[in-house]
Amino acid sequence: MSSVHELDANDPLRHFQEQFERPHGLIYLDGNSLGMLPKRARERVQHVVTQEWGQQLIRGWTDAGWIELPRRVGDKIGRLIGAPAASTVCADSTSINLFKVVSAALALRPDRRSILSTADNFPTDLYMAEGATQMLGKGHRLVHVDAHAIVNTLDADTAVVMLTHVNYKTGERYDMADISRAAHSAGALIIWDLAHSAGAFPLDIAACDVDFAVGCGYKYLNGGPGAPAFLYVAKRHQAQFEQPLSGWMGHAHPFAFAAQYAPAAGIDRYLCGTPPVISMSALDASLDLMLEADIGALRAKSVALTQLFIQSVEIRCAGFGLELATPRDARKRGSQVSFRHEHGYAIMQALIAAGVIGDFRAPDIIRFGFAPLYNTFADADTAATRLADILRSGAWQAYAKTARRTVT
Ligand SMILES: Cc1ncc(COP(=O)(O)O)c(C=O)c1O
Repeated sequence: MSSVHELDANDPLRHFQEQFERPHGLIYLDGNSLGMLPKRARERVQHVVTQEWGQQLIRGWTDAGWIELPRRVGDKIGRLIGAPAASTVCADSTSINLFKVVSAALALRPDRRSILSTADNFPTDLYMAEGATQMLGKGHRLVHVDAHAIVNTLDADTAVVMLTHVNYKTGERYDMADISRAAHSAGALIIWDLAHSAGAFPLDIAACDVDFAVGCGYKYLNGGPGAPAFLYVAKRHQAQFEQPLSGWMGHAHPFAFAAQYAPAAGIDRYLCGTPPVISMSALDASLDLMLEADIGALRAKSVALTQLFIQSVEIRCAGFGLELATPRDARKRGSQVSFRHEHGYAIMQALIAAGVIGDFRAPDIIRFGFAPLYNTFADADTAATRLADILRSGAWQAYAKTARRTVT
């Protein structure tokens, strides 16, 4: 078996590491929550602030192309998720975009009343779907089922299936093609949340005939804290529905300043207000970097990193009560590894103090995200060693009774 140093030396993506700001001595395994800073995103923000905002001022909307950013960035994300041009826009947050697409999907299935999702879906997805159904006031209901029972629960009342492709806690990746096909066979529509998929591995949402998709810009897409999100609508649905957040940026002619709303013809009607130019520019620059990578190589490295980490942790931490929550079968996992432990919060705090950043999801999950553009095999190996040290020494006990931080 190759040593971790050999694996790093032979990594076809190794030249991407120097493209990121790496805090000295830190092992960062939280790119599934907030991606690292690409140097070119920092340079781009500097340029946007000093040259475009600073010098061009209002002219920047046209001269620096700010007004085109939602489409331009959307198309770049589209290339990563297998969407044709003009079917993805960058806008708002994932939560807001979910509201738009849930409303659209329900309107396209007017005779059906149920939305199928999973109780362990990311909470905002469930909250937004509930909010949309309450606002519609037409007796829709959100039904929670186990992800593996979705296909058998579909019936003539299912309007839409709304799932997160990679479970944010366990890292389990669901079969997009199979579930989308089953939803369509039952006459329902499918919405995928790609928050933990986009930028982590190749996706082909057009081939899977996906109806709607949303996802975050700040995780594997490295767009920065609070980066704008994205939204995909299959071309066949774009003109079928006027989404309820009918802001002026979704108007056919925003600068006609008409008193009446008239939606833009295509995907633009899913925009709402003025784009956040600085943060969208950072995401734009980060995407340019990501699009230089061979996405197949990205997936191969992600599988190898997660495999190595699982093996190393299971060997070195045996007997300390960690239970693997992520599927062992690489085909069924995203780019993260999670373990359960009753003292997970304290263990993660001790690990962070030891220079390895992952995160904790209540009640008992410690998560490690592997971003193949900047994580190394040495990162995975050292993180497993430090985790074992903490368990063996009991260093985590110092954190067992401390108040939990707001963001875990
Ligand atoms: C699956 C999933 N969906 C949505 C979100 C968050 O959405 P928003 O950007 O609206 O906060 C997250 C955040 O971690 C997530 O994991």
